[in-house]
Amino acid sequence: MRVVESVLDLRAILDNYNTNKVIGFVPTMGALHNGHCSLIRAAKQKCDVVVTSIFVNPTQFNDKTDLEKYPRTLNEDLAKLEKEGCDVVFVPSVEEIYPDNSSLSLDLEGLDKVMEGEFRPGHFDGVVEVVNRLFNIVKPNFAFFGEKDFQQLSIIRFMVKKLNHDIQIIGCPILREEDGLAMSSRNTLLTEEHRSVSPVIFKALTNAKNNIGKFAVEDIKNELVAQIEDNGLLKVEYVDIVNSATLKSLSNWIDEPMNICVAVFAGKVRLIDNLKLNY
Ligand code: PAJ
Repeated sequence: MRVVESVLDLRAILDNYNTNKVIGFVPTMGALHNGHCSLIRAAKQKCDVVVTSIFVNPTQFNDKTDLEKYPRTLNEDLAKLEKEGCDVVFVPSVEEIYPDNSSLSLDLEGLDKVMEGEFRPGHFDGVVEVVNRLFNIVKPNFAFFGEKDFQQLSIIRFMVKKLNHDIQIIGCPILREEDGLAMSSRNTLLTEEHRSVSPVIFKALTNAKNNIGKFAVEDIKNELVAQIEDNGLLKVEYVDIVNSATLKSLSNWIDEPMNICVAVFAGKVRLIDNLKLNY
């Protein structure tokens, strides 16, 4: 496995591969867990060469303390990537990715105004900015993203279309801990108390899924908040039931794919999760 820090070194390696080799790319911010590893495994299945990036992207953090506290575990990350058979790891500095302060300012046509976008203003501009730069550097054939970040996945698909990137985006299922908590780099920041109550998030989402159509959309959302907050330790920031294709918030059930999405504060740690709902 090759580990490189500069664009030049990365290009030198990738340009050396035969042009008919299929390149798969998994962008990450490190602190890797099995959810990330599942993306590497999906990439290994589909591609000849797998490139992973580890870059804690400052432009997507709207909260400075969140950026400072973000877990950084490079040595463990590299060991995991090696074990998964990743070929190339790109670990750039901030200057390497942002040599200038130009910005893309792509109109995300409202996809960035709901849910995460509403509560983390500017977050998706930062995500789109960095993923576009990484795509231009790596030039992969396939790029792999988790459904854990459902809104991010929709926005990346939108960006690829708008900017005519010749890259196929593959969405991969959410990996969960045995008790249902969605795997996340931020889980390591949870106190023992918060960790022990956090499986209720998945339970409440599952209950909502089992009750679709039986109750009104608003009632399902209220019930989810009540279940998650019942322990007195968790606080729901938002819950939304949206059309999976448009991300439009729904007040009535529709006969098309829907997602229920939630953001929860466990103390200072912010967790997100979602489930597909099919009527
Ligand atoms: P990060 O949070 O490190 O996640 C990297 C990728 O792993 C994302 O596509 C995310 O959806 C996926 N992922 C995280 N937890 C997962 C889980 N439990 N199951 C399956 N996939 C999971 O998302 C980012 O980084 C950044 O925004 C990035 C795209 C790298 C841009 O900076």
